[in-house]
Order: sequence, then structure tokens, then C-alpha cells
Amino acid sequence: MQRLHIHEVVTRDGFQIEPQFVPTEQKIALIDALSKTGLAKIEVTSFVSPQAVPNLADAEAVSAGIARNPAVRYVGLIANARGAERAVAARLDEVNLVVSVSETHNRSNVRRSTDASFEGFREIMGGLRATGVSATGALATAFGCPFEGDVPAERVIALAERYAALGVSGVTLADTTGMANPRQVMALASRVRERLPGLEVALHFHNTRGMGLANVLAGLQAGVDRYEGSLGGLGGCPFAPGATGNICTEDLAHMLEAMGYETGVSLDRLLAAARRLREIVGHELPGQVIKAGKSTDLHPAPAALRA
Ligand code: COA
Ligand code: ZN
Repeated sequence: MQRLHIHEVVTRDGFQIEPQFVPTEQKIALIDALSKTGLAKIEVTSFVSPQAVPNLADAEAVSAGIARNPAVRYVGLIANARGAERAVAARLDEVNLVVSVSETHNRSNVRRSTDASFEGFREIMGGLRATGVSATGALATAFGCPFEGDVPAERVIALAERYAALGVSGVTLADTTGMANPRQVMALASRVRERLPGLEVALHFHNTRGMGLANVLAGLQAGVDRYEGSLGGLGGCPFAPGATGNICTEDLAHMLEAMGYETGVSLDRLLAAARRLREIVGHELPGQVIKAGKSTDLHPAPAALRA
């Protein structure tokens, strides 16, 4: 069966929207635990304006404090050239550029037009060439926008092609506010893969309306082998109304393992990290396997039956 890759985004997508600032040392300890779980990539933080996202104002300190596992790619989300410079200085392996497919969400998120975002990306890609830092491109609101509604598939494909022309190694189709449905995912992911066969395609789902893991199944049927998840199911964009958590990484890993897929991830280590996360944030997590246990965890039969 196909080998899949899981990317963890909790310390970026999850912590950016937590009501309380997560102390730097706890972010570092969590990333160090995640580095030992077999994940392919960890999105460590974002290098954006600390006024816009105060929870990730410690991006440099977190990047400097983590122990790097050579088998993991450490990623920083960026929106502008200043962010790229900061991510390179912080010695991350990869930057994840972000633009929204919807003009309104792009303006809400990064305060510029999508054209202006791409103009900035051209400059960033030029600057990265000499550094050895790779880049991927995320397309937020790729399956629908909370302000504009439906997003035409042609526009998603056109923006993915624009990323490809800039020389990114992959594109991520992101369902920022959980509007995607499985049929749509199957159709869009298939078309993007067909049009851009040289690019790594990743899917980023939020479980806002309970369709997250169903969308993963649709992605698998479309042949996509990279999925982003957030430990515990935390997450959400502060610049999109009604945003809630990502698909939960350990629930995702549990489903894929049960289906017989190879992900390289240790589910037990992920669950241990999720329990630590619950301590760190001090509230219940949306994830389900952490509460129910694995489907293979059996219980003793009722005493009356054992007699
Ligand atoms: N890192 C740190 N500070 C930055 C920065 C970066 N990458 N880019 C801009 N800034 C600072 C500027 O120095 C300036 O600070 P000042 O007010 O103290 O002088 C301030 O942010 C505004 O800068 P400006 O270039 O005018 O940006 P803007 O106001 O047009 O905002 C973004 C653009 C992209 C910086 C801002 O909207 C942002 O950071 N958005 C966050 C997007 C995000 O993370 N969304 C969630 C994940 S998708
Ligand atoms: Zn997200």
C-alpha cells in the first residue's frame, strides 16, 4: 500500500488561535516530543507580524530552542519577504508561503491583494535560491471562503500553477474553515494532480463541520499522499470568522493505520504528545482517540460473563 506523509501544524495553526499564549519552553518541549514520532514535517511557527498573531511572537526563540531530527523537515509559515528573511535566519528547512484563493480572505489575512502576495513571493523565491531553504505554497480557502462562499476550481488551479511557475516544491490545498466536502476534494485534488504532476500536493483540512476525515479518504482516492493535521485537533485562522480546529493528527494516524497505510508515525508516541498538549493548554482537546483509546485497546469482559 502507498506510503503516506503526515505534516504536523499544531504549534502554528493550533497555537496561533489559543486564547492563552503558550510559553516558549512548552512549545519547544512539545516540538521535541513530536520530532520523535515519525512525522515527515513539523510546521514550527509562523514569521508574521507579532501584532497580527501575538501567540507566535516567539518564532525565533522556538526555532533556536528545538532539537532538530534530520529525518524531519522543519517549516515556517510566511506571508512576506520579512518573514522569509526571519525563517532563513532561524535555520528552518522550508518556508510555507500563504495566499488565499479568495480576495476577501487574503485581504483579511495579509492585508493585500492576491496579486500583491504573488509579487512578493517572486521576490522571496529569488532570495531563497542561494540559501538551500525550500518553499511550498499554501492556498487558503481553496474549498470555499467564509466571506465569498464558493471558490471556482479554475481559480484554485490557476493559483497553483502560479506557485509552480515560481519554483515551489509543493502546494497545499487548505480548507481554512471546514467548507470542503469529499466529492469536491476528490474532484479538485485530482485536477490539481493532473495539471501539476511534478508538484507534491498536500491537503490541509479543518474539521469545522465534521467532514475532515471523510475529506482525507477522498484525498486518498484522488492519490494524494500528504496530509496536514494538528495534534489534539486544535487550530484555526484568527482572520476567518467561525474558524475551528484542524483534523486531529492522532485521529488521522489512527484511521490510516487501521486502514493498513504506512505513515512512519508511532501512534503511541503521538498520543503521549497529545496528553502532554492537554496539560499545556489546560483544556479538553477536540481529538477523539485520546478520549476513546485506540480501536485495538480491548476491555475485560463484564465480570458476570467471565464467571
Ligand atoms: N515579521 C515581523 N513583523 C512584521 C512582518 C514580519 N514578517 N511583516 C510586517 N511586520 C510588522 C512591520 O514591521 C510593522 O510593524 P510596526 O507597526 O511596528 O512598524 C507591522 O508589522 C505592519 O507592517 P506592514 O508591512 O504594513 O504589514 P501589514 O500591516 O500590511 O500586514 C502582514 C501584513 C502580512 C504582516 C500581517 O497582515 C500579518 O502578519 N498577518 C498574519 C497572517 C497570519 O499569520 N494568518 C494566519 C495563518 S494563515
Ligand atoms: Zn489551517
